[in-house]
Amino acid sequence: KKFCLDLTVSQVDRLSEKYVLIRLTDSRPLPDILPGQFVEVRIDDSPTTFLRRPISIHFLDRKANELWLLVAIIGDGTRRLARLKAGDQLNCVLPLGNGFTLPKSPAMRFLLVGGGVGVAPLLYLGSRFQAMGGVPTFLLGARSASDVLEKADFEAVGRVFVTTEDGSFGERGFVTDHSILRRERFDFIATCGPKPMMQAVAHYARQSETPCEVSLENMMACGIGACLCCVEKSVEGNVCVCKEGPVFNINRLLW
Ligand code: FES
Repeated sequence: KKFCLDLTVSQVDRLSEKYVLIRLTDSRPLPDILPGQFVEVRIDDSPTTFLRRPISIHFLDRKANELWLLVAIIGDGTRRLARLKAGDQLNCVLPLGNGFTLPKSPAMRFLLVGGGVGVAPLLYLGSRFQAMGGVPTFLLGARSASDVLEKADFEAVGRVFVTTEDGSFGERGFVTDHSILRRERFDFIATCGPKPMMQAVAHYARQSETPCEVSLENMMACGIGACLCCVEKSVEGNVCVCKEGPVFNINRLLW
């Protein structure tokens, strides 16, 4: 079931020039949300027009009844979001999309690979695995040390390994260069980030025969399967990422 809710901004943290963390709350308990699902937030352009933007759900804090959105400031719409202040209202349609599969057993070695703002849904996914009694392994990739987001929050949930392209933090290179992938084996992989990164992770998963799910970030407009701007080719033909995804097993994709 989907809801259209006017959520209240409870806190806004500017993490860096490029990223902002927005916490939203409501007077009623927030609906159930699966890790990997997203919200369409309403961004008012003028008093008469508005558009919606898909933002993945970074975390659901049940105790505080808060929903966290990690937003990369990349254009006009996201710049407007970054200007929100505590007490403001934000209209959200949620929860949308299918979400990641959780490993069946807490004993499974679960690897979560994120790049850039694509790390967002992995915190909530890892925390759900932690709640099952599992210890997730996060492998987070960024351009530079200042782009490594929310490291302390990830460390509270599982093991954290980092790569940066310029070598300013963690190991130098791309996530798939990290030595952890040579030292250890995993039973299940979930990944979200730039497409070339996810394709490299999918390649690693195939080679190591590890099941793998990816969360696609295709351009989206309507978010409900009506405009077809988010289409991805799959083994079953074209699929709408917003409706049938955003999470897909790599076996369904033509990668
Ligand atoms: Fe419109 Fe997916 S965003 S069909």
